[in-house]
Amino acid sequence: MSYFSGRSSKIAGTGKYLPGRVMTNFDFEKILDTNDEWIVERTGIKKRHFVEKGQQCSDLAYFAALEALKDAKISASEIDMILVGTNSPESMFPSVASKIQDRLGAKRAGAMDIHAGCTASLSAMAVGVSGIASGMWNNVLVVGAEAFGEILDWSDRGTCILMGDGAGACVLTVSDEDGPCFVSSKFISDGSKHDILAYASAREGEPKTFQMKGHEVFKYVNKELPPFISSFCEQSGILPEQVDLWVLHQANTRIIDSVFKRVGISTERTLLNLERYGNTSAASIMIALDESMKAGLIKSGQRICFIAFGAGMTIGGMLYEA
Ligand code: UT7
Repeated sequence: MSYFSGRSSKIAGTGKYLPGRVMTNFDFEKILDTNDEWIVERTGIKKRHFVEKGQQCSDLAYFAALEALKDAKISASEIDMILVGTNSPESMFPSVASKIQDRLGAKRAGAMDIHAGCTASLSAMAVGVSGIASGMWNNVLVVGAEAFGEILDWSDRGTCILMGDGAGACVLTVSDEDGPCFVSSKFISDGSKHDILAYASAREGEPKTFQMKGHEVFKYVNKELPPFISSFCEQSGILPEQVDLWVLHQANTRIIDSVFKRVGISTERTLLNLERYGNTSAASIMIALDESMKAGLIKSGQRICFIAFGAGMTIGGMLYEA
């Protein structure tokens, strides 16, 4: 765990974009041996969005970024750095960040993608906050974007029903001394679990797809996340019940319910959108942030805690005073 020092940063604006092709659980019933009741009961998901033909990860990232810039009332030319958290870029290089840098007209911005499973966009946010704290950057655009449609194994009922495509974004800027600020962050990784959630071949010689040992991921998160949350709060000098709003990676309502129960947190203090979007991986925490902001759930002076977890395995937390 570490406290941020140096210049404070604040969230100046947020945005999101969900592509137009919607797939309900009933649509999956037509192509797989599954049913709406099983999916809702085990995951909380009812529908999710997927990219239209020809759409790519950078298209989703671009539209979410445009909305965040408009919301922040900051022009693209004022952005110093663009950080995109993603696990499904259309190319390993160039980065999605570079593509949107050009398309947005962010003429003096640097650009990079960050890969860290579903923790990627929260990791990007921590890098952005650190860059502002050190004086390196003044305005940072952070995006989480995923276009999984292409890499899902549509015959694997244990994975494809979970995921969805989408993008969320926020603009970070320098804050006043007594204004909003990021207080602390904690990021951990357990690479010994790298094979339970990976872009890999199911069998030798087969093309790579999204592979997940769902039950092992479920067990890992249920075991590791409650102590992570408790220790992050304790090390940040607060109790979990002193957090006003939790902005969470939307993986599965059953995971969120059981983790919250074990830490003693009320699920009323978080926004859940799994039902509508499924698990959008690195995009999910940025979409949840945008919806929490626009629903008026984040008020001045409140404590906001961000928690993400995913492939690696990785877990991350950030504490923000709005
Ligand atoms: O962002 C982080 C990434 N991932 C996650 O957070 C996912 C974590 N894992 C999970 O959410 C859950 O493990 C799943 C929702 C993926 C699966 O739920 P589960 O309760 O762990 O089920 P399971 O894998 O233990 O499978 C139970 C049964 C199996 O049938 P048998 O062997 O008991 O006959 C599966 O074949 O459920 C079956 N099953 C399905 N049945 C209907 C698996 N997927 C489906 C399905 N529809 N879509």
